[in-house]
Amino acid sequence: MKNFYITTAIDYANGSPHLGHAYEKVLTDVIARCRRLKGDNVYFLTGLDEHGQKVQQSARKAGVEPIVLCDAQAEKFQNLCKILNISNDDYIRTSQPRHKKVVAEILQKLYDKGEIYKAEYKGFYSTRQEQFLQEKDKVDGKWPEIFGEVVEITESNYFFKLRQYQDWLIEYIEKNESFIYPRFRAKQVIEFLKEPLNDLCISRPKERLEWGIELPFDTDYVTYVWFDALVNYISAIGYGTDDFNKNWPADFHVIGKDILVPPHSVYWPIMLHASGIELPKSLLVHGWWLSSGEKMSKSLGNIVNPLDLIEKFGADPFRYFLMREMNVGQDSDFSMDLFVTRYTSDLGNDLGNLISRLLNMGKRYCQSIVPTANEDFEFETQLKNLAKETTTDVMALFDGMQFHIALERIFNFIRAINRYAEQRAPWKLAKSEDSADQELLKTTLANMAEAIRISAVLLAPIMPSVSEKILNLIGAGNIDKFEGNLEWSDKLAGTKLADQEILFPRPN
Ligand code: MSP
Repeated sequence: MKNFYITTAIDYANGSPHLGHAYEKVLTDVIARCRRLKGDNVYFLTGLDEHGQKVQQSARKAGVEPIVLCDAQAEKFQNLCKILNISNDDYIRTSQPRHKKVVAEILQKLYDKGEIYKAEYKGFYSTRQEQFLQEKDKVDGKWPEIFGEVVEITESNYFFKLRQYQDWLIEYIEKNESFIYPRFRAKQVIEFLKEPLNDLCISRPKERLEWGIELPFDTDYVTYVWFDALVNYISAIGYGTDDFNKNWPADFHVIGKDILVPPHSVYWPIMLHASGIELPKSLLVHGWWLSSGEKMSKSLGNIVNPLDLIEKFGADPFRYFLMREMNVGQDSDFSMDLFVTRYTSDLGNDLGNLISRLLNMGKRYCQSIVPTANEDFEFETQLKNLAKETTTDVMALFDGMQFHIALERIFNFIRAINRYAEQRAPWKLAKSEDSADQELLKTTLANMAEAIRISAVLLAPIMPSVSEKILNLIGAGNIDKFEGNLEWSDKLAGTKLADQEILFPRPN
């Protein structure tokens, strides 16, 4: 059976990892983990986009070969994945031979079919920035300072024929409702496709750009930006070998809204269609993390460094925050105050204190052994009903990518467990000599443990380490599937509770 194949965009090697990169990886990881827990075989790819002018320039400045710079960047980005506990199965780098080989194959195939042609390209060129400019780059009718001298040049380049596929693409997007998620993004693509498409310039002469993949049919040129980067999704899984069909078509390409139109929704489908390759099933388009209302960017100096937050609060709280605050598809504003509130209030007070309470009372009142629940009164029934409702709803919300609401529901349940403890007040029951009260005390602790177990299972895709820790603290052991672990049960009866443990220490 085909794997569930999910990818992230591949990050540009010319910057440092920031919150946006971290978010995309966490979101994709949460989906991958949900699928694995549901029993699917998952293949999860992420990677690094290494070629291009900017990397070449930075390498020159530093007096090193571009690959030296990319090796260092790859280490940084892979380290981010590791620290974030990202469960990717592979990491593709566009400088790898396995990738370059497939790019060359696709280019040759399209060239042989007559889909790529050479033509003269005339345009304004900034020598300082080494880039082509358009009329829209002018400010008040003039080229801004940063471009330095702007000259009109003519250059021969290779072009990929897009226009002939325009009608086909419009029809495809209109017919396949699940191709672009959320659906409102598809409207932007259709809007873009109302204007006639220009053919896509896919090359740069080597004299201007060396750090790229050589065109197989003209060694004076390298391919340029998207034709290189997009192919990673098929080169990594062995396009041209038998293994390819184990994963392709991709179930989701997870990308930010800035790279939907035109690269992923126009260039990529047309490149695939023209090469006779099936299209991915869905593009999952997320919004941006903003900082005081603006996109984070190096030039604005408003970048949130995920590594600082993770060092201070831990990876799982960081993952929790990203998933709790972002409605997938929309933008969200990052605020440190909100981060700290979520950490202290949801994680520390609601979840952390609940676990401490159980472990404490377990030690005091039942020698740290989870008792059996023998009573079923109103409060017990309420808690069990809420557990059932929560698990059913959360599973559906996971499927619909509504992670922020799913987390809200899980934490409502966690707060209900705290309420249950207060209603039953085990500390009072423990003082009573009445055997009915003693039974109720056991029932309360057993039910708290069981409800915590279910909450920890539900949290597994979002906070994998915290979830595992909690399950181990209450003697539930590790889980690798949702199935059989979401129903209310007495499987904890007789297990050993661990000693006290602070899950979310106060940050210093
Ligand atoms: N290299 C290209 C993608 C090629 S995919 C075949 C690229 N790289 S990037 O480093 O600029 O961005 C990588 C991903 O991070 C993109 O999906 C982008 O949308 C996402 N983000 C970058 N900044 C972001 C935010 N501030 N917020 C959320 N995600 C954003 O584009």
